[in-house]
Amino acid sequence: MTRHLLRDDNLTPAEQAAVLDLAATMKADRYARRPLAGPQSVAVLFDKPSLRTRLSFEAGIAELGGNPIIVDTQNTHFGRGESLADASLVLQRYVSAIVMRTFGDERLAEIAGGSRVPVVNALTDGFHPCQLLADLLTVRERLGATAGRTLAYLGDAANNMAHSYLLAGASAGMHVRVAGPSGFDPAPAVVSRAAEIAAWTGGSVEVLRDPREAADRADVLATDTWTSMGQEDDGLDRRTPFWPYQVNKELLALAAPEAIVLHCLPAHRGEEITDEVMDGTQSAVFDQAENRLHAQKALLAWLIEAS
Ligand code: CP
Ligand code: NVA
Repeated sequence: MTRHLLRDDNLTPAEQAAVLDLAATMKADRYARRPLAGPQSVAVLFDKPSLRTRLSFEAGIAELGGNPIIVDTQNTHFGRGESLADASLVLQRYVSAIVMRTFGDERLAEIAGGSRVPVVNALTDGFHPCQLLADLLTVRERLGATAGRTLAYLGDAANNMAHSYLLAGASAGMHVRVAGPSGFDPAPAVVSRAAEIAAWTGGSVEVLRDPREAADRADVLATDTWTSMGQEDDGLDRRTPFWPYQVNKELLALAAPEAIVLHCLPAHRGEEITDEVMDGTQSAVFDQAENRLHAQKALLAWLIEAS
């Protein structure tokens, strides 16, 4: 059966652990495995901008012996009537996997629907599962393990990163707290799914309003932009209600003494995170960005092997 990663819970907790184990192995010996030698091609489609995802997939696919085909979709027929389902039927005749960054999750589902090659979510409005694999790899490296650790995500708790922290963090056995202002809470269906997973793994999930309660003795503080791609003109005040959730040295002081700080980047320094924290000794953000490469290489190798 073809395996996809459309959202974080498409991997069971055991499968997530296997991908992270593989990522650590592949990071230690970066050029050892070439499952895409041939080369086999992988299509990487972008409906939205990107720096890290684009570069890490392009470099990673090449390192796996494959041929990355990067497509900015404004130069395709997507905007002028070609259906995504038809495009998917075409692409799978050329490539061994399809990676896509898009808006609504239903667009990715349309690509995956009839696909006999693995489809990977490179960020949608709903989820960012590749980022979470990198984040969890970083937590393992810095804190030794994920299970039992507390991760507090502060800011826009309704966005893709909040949803992915809930699902993937719960799968990794973490205690996940998300905190944001009123009107920016995670989707209830995602919270209940994460709670269901946490009941299996020994983790937990909490949706909080108070940023200090969320940060209290946390092992990981995580944040993200207050305005995600596509939300620039949504008419909401995406600054004023968010200031109490800024990850700054006062909030970090409430966390565990050895706590690490994560941000998927790009950061808006002085908004969701201060320079002091971003450049401080507890920041893991650049290891986190590097780990996109290693985690995605492992994911592609694993999906192709499993499919
Ligand atoms: N973190 C992340 O996905 O970055 P890009 O938008 O630059 O790909
Ligand atoms: N929540 C952000 C993540 C960027 C990597 C966005 O969707 O724009």
